[in-house]
Amino acid sequence: MTASSIPPLSETTVASGQPGPQPVVEQQGMAAHFIVLNIAPGAAAEETVRAFFGNAAALVRSVGRRLPELRLSMVVGIGSNAWDRLFGTPRPAHLHVFKELQGGKHRAPSTPGDLLLHIRAQTVSMCFELAMQAMRALEGAVEPVDEVHGFRYFDARSMVGFVDGTENPEGQEALEATLIGTEDPDFAGGSYVIVQKYLHDMTAWNQLPTEEQERVIGRTKHDDIELADDVKPSNSHVALNVVEDENGNELAIVRNNLPFATPSRGEYGTYFIGYARDPAVTELMLTNMFIGRPPGNYDRLLDFSVAVTGTLFFVPSQALLEALADGNPLAGDDAPDAAETAETAASTPSPVAASAAGTLQIGSLKGQPQLNRTTSSGGSAQPGSEPAP
Ligand code: HEM
Repeated sequence: MTASSIPPLSETTVASGQPGPQPVVEQQGMAAHFIVLNIAPGAAAEETVRAFFGNAAALVRSVGRRLPELRLSMVVGIGSNAWDRLFGTPRPAHLHVFKELQGGKHRAPSTPGDLLLHIRAQTVSMCFELAMQAMRALEGAVEPVDEVHGFRYFDARSMVGFVDGTENPEGQEALEATLIGTEDPDFAGGSYVIVQKYLHDMTAWNQLPTEEQERVIGRTKHDDIELADDVKPSNSHVALNVVEDENGNELAIVRNNLPFATPSRGEYGTYFIGYARDPAVTELMLTNMFIGRPPGNYDRLLDFSVAVTGTLFFVPSQALLEALADGNPLAGDDAPDAAETAETAASTPSPVAASAAGTLQIGSLKGQPQLNRTTSSGGSAQPGSEPAP
């Protein structure tokens, strides 16, 4: 699939009242828990996990209702292997195991993960309470892979001291960037999310003068202004993360990164989390960062940051998540709205067909020179689970 084949969401799901999403596009709170789990062996574990999907929204209500002003939310993601194990086919068109990237100098590893719980709130205690209730519901059925507690750092500073999230799309633009539409009608209202845990060499970073740090990020540190095109280096983080389709349209994702730290152990990190309607967009950004655009011109931020995890999940719509409690509702002859779905699919260019035709391949974007941008829009390592491509 290719990002450029995406029809506007306004013409697809939201306008026609199709499934509401999980709270993917949610304002960043003061705290987040990022929890990655594997499903334990056995059919009983699978049954417990499916039941959890049916009950997740009720758990958020139970905890969140007590202090609604603290805006508790949870997004549940499902990894590629877990989808196959729990639900088989049909499956979301672009769900796959995160692809490791090996650049000349830096590597983005692919690490295991069957489930993601992305819990956001205004206080750590709200995140903790929901995490505890969720783990109670999943008791005996899951094994921990990674858990990171992120915090908002002053005025949304990242661990490296720069404001993070400024160019995130908002409102309708954010929905269009993150929610699947008629390009994959069975999974409309869903999304894809990639998470990566980064650890920073803060000693080396702090030795850089501020002006040099600004050239690494591509924005000013104090007041968060983007550097002018003729000043911003091509290997700055911002320059490499502005990506476009072949028509020069900027492609967006929604990021909800937060810093985390254990200062006594010298551990300082950023938990990257990026939601996208098509994971190819995030993968293109990662290719630019790790391989470089052009190859070799990699993201200088990586000289101070090591990616220790990398996992991709599908985020079903709220209705599909609940329906998955009883197995894959799309499987079999009695799949709901099958006729309607086929009709919609026929009238919408199939991403697969487009890709096969070679006109819209994301690969064609990779080496493409970027147009000058006129407006601005926009722990512990786990062993890799997929060989390098
Ligand atoms: C080491 C971890 C990372 C840190 C500390 C970090 C920090 C930042 C900062 C400070 C900005 C500028 C302000 C803003 O617009 O948000 C930024 C922009 C951005 N980052 Fe990251 N980031 C990290 C990883 C990533 C990754 C892995 C991706 C993509 C896969 C990414 C994608 C972007 C994008 C798309 C922008 C906005 C570019 C623009 O339109 O100007 N970041 N990041």
